[in-house]
Amino acid sequence: MEIIIFDTAAQLDEYGANYFVNTVKQKSNAVLGLATGSTPIGIYNKLVEKYKQKEVSFSGVTTYNLDEYAGLPEGSDQSYAYYMNQHLFSHIDIASNQTHLPNGNASDLHAACKEYDAMLEKQPIDVQLLGIGHNGHIGFNEPAEGLQGGTHLVELKAETREANARFFSSIDEVPTHAITMGVGSILKAKTVMLVARGADKADIIKEALTGPITTKVPASLLQTHPNVIVLLDREAGRWLA
Ligand code: GLP
Repeated sequence: MEIIIFDTAAQLDEYGANYFVNTVKQKSNAVLGLATGSTPIGIYNKLVEKYKQKEVSFSGVTTYNLDEYAGLPEGSDQSYAYYMNQHLFSHIDIASNQTHLPNGNASDLHAACKEYDAMLEKQPIDVQLLGIGHNGHIGFNEPAEGLQGGTHLVELKAETREANARFFSSIDEVPTHAITMGVGSILKAKTVMLVARGADKADIIKEALTGPITTKVPASLLQTHPNVIVLLDREAGRWLA
């Protein structure tokens, strides 16, 4: 596991974006695993900048997002599909049929999970971008006695709904369920890039990266992956430096 602690957010974003740009330059049909939340926004902004400067083309790239809320109204601006269009897809040259998110509006959510896994099976992820929740969740894989390998429907923990309530007008609007890639699918990515920012992530980062490997801290399972890069700002990395 390679851990890099950056002095500034701009340096972290530049490094993260360059990693993706280099991946796509080396493999024009790369499969990228993408994430939402506030953490990746700076990296997406830089990717858009680099695309506009003609440093990179995404025309051959395929993307799979980690997760999506279940049951939000179609086209909701709180959906992760909306987020991805807003922050990345609508600004770069990627065809919409090459971008994938779990379908949180499917009439049969379990069937939608199976379909997602079948697609991932055919198109293994080259680089998976990941944020981390305060309780150690990755995607929406919440702390539990056991974790599921594949894509599945989850009931969100109260703390996760509270943390994500800042994107909604009230906590009652935060969905109770979501579809997420499983930890097994995440660990199948050839490279995993975990990113965290801010002092509020320092404790969980230390626990996940240096504590025991346990399903109660889903991100700790990344310790078993042979190729993980961790990008942290000074605050998130303060207990590791
Ligand atoms: C959500 C997402 C996660 C994300 C986490 C952290 O729960 N499902 O994929 O990593 O929030 O979000 P933030 O980056 O806003 O701290």
